[in-house]
Amino acid sequence: MTPLVCLSDFECEAARILPADRAAYLFGGSGDEVSLVANRAAFDALSLLPRMGRDLAGGHTGITLFGVRYEAPIIAAPLAYQRLFHAEGEIGTARACAAFGLGYCLSTLSSTPMEAVRAAGEGAPQWFQLYAQPRVADTLALARRAEEAGFSALVITLDAPVNGLRNREMRAGFTLPPDVRAVHLDGFARAQAVEGHPVFDGLLQGAMTWAFFEQIARASRLPVLAKGVLHPQDAVLALEAGASGIIVSNHGGRALDGACPALAALPKVVEAVAGRVPVLLDSGVRRGTDILKALALGAHAVLLGRPLVAALALGGAASAAQALRLLIDELAVAMALSGIRTLEEVSRALLWQERP
Ligand code: FNR
Ligand code: LAC
Repeated sequence: MTPLVCLSDFECEAARILPADRAAYLFGGSGDEVSLVANRAAFDALSLLPRMGRDLAGGHTGITLFGVRYEAPIIAAPLAYQRLFHAEGEIGTARACAAFGLGYCLSTLSSTPMEAVRAAGEGAPQWFQLYAQPRVADTLALARRAEEAGFSALVITLDAPVNGLRNREMRAGFTLPPDVRAVHLDGFARAQAVEGHPVFDGLLQGAMTWAFFEQIARASRLPVLAKGVLHPQDAVLALEAGASGIIVSNHGGRALDGACPALAALPKVVEAVAGRVPVLLDSGVRRGTDILKALALGAHAVLLGRPLVAALALGGAASAAQALRLLIDELAVAMALSGIRTLEEVSRALLWQERP
């Protein structure tokens, strides 16, 4: 096999070996996949303006977030049902992140119980992503369980009150196999069949609102992050509802097709947040240089979705760790070649602008 030297190599190889329907679930976006493609195009459209001749001794990729030290500004994005891709499932990706001192966010729709994932994290900080459930009490119980299990932040996802119409996945006929399920939802009320509009009255029984966000933030001792923000005014509403962090994201192009790239939305969100809380970004991050670009536009860290799980599919925790190693090294090389010693030095000045 040709060596896998960057994250897209892991994605290509996983797409080759996975059953076609699972590959479509992992790699697909919604509708015509306009937002999926636009996420990458937004990164590629930005150029770096590197500096030369600087003293880079003692350089490193570390950051501090919510008072916790991380080896690099890379956090595993919450990604559902990871046992679809490898028997180790969420345990595999969590181990790989812990091995490098990186953050890990576990999905509500995990196929592995959160307590087992915490145990696999070997003391590394992990966050829990919360999807609103049809019954308020179930959502609050899930938040409490995560707090008790030792997760250090809650991530409330706002951009998927219903699933996007993931046409690639539909064409491939993807359905969950009997041995993989969202284990945390056992015993919870499922959405009830209702009279009326199938989307607005049916699927939306568990939609997150700012009022509910605020209720959860008040009830929890943990910092609560708002995931899926694109509009700067939503960032302000998130802060008013008690958010301790904002994740700018278009769900990796899986929710509203035609939504703007997360990277394009980032600067205005950063401006609206005005340094009050950390702003993170996901959707399309594939290279160390992408991380530098996101940080140059004001992000404090990025989340990584599909590539990490593609790597898991190829060989469990060991392959996931290999992919993370490549990305951390890419970031270090990108920093060195840009004349950046530590990530605190990254600013807009690192971006080339046609009209200064
Ligand atoms: C996701 N994402 C997601 N987000 C979330 O909040 N809860 C979830 O359960 C899931 N599940 C999920 C499954 C799959 C297969 C994918 C690809 C994505 C979205 C995820 O957290 C993140 O926002 C994107 O994946 C980031 O984009 P990239 O890095 O995949 O381009
Ligand atoms: C997805 C949902 C689970 O993107 O967030 O697949």
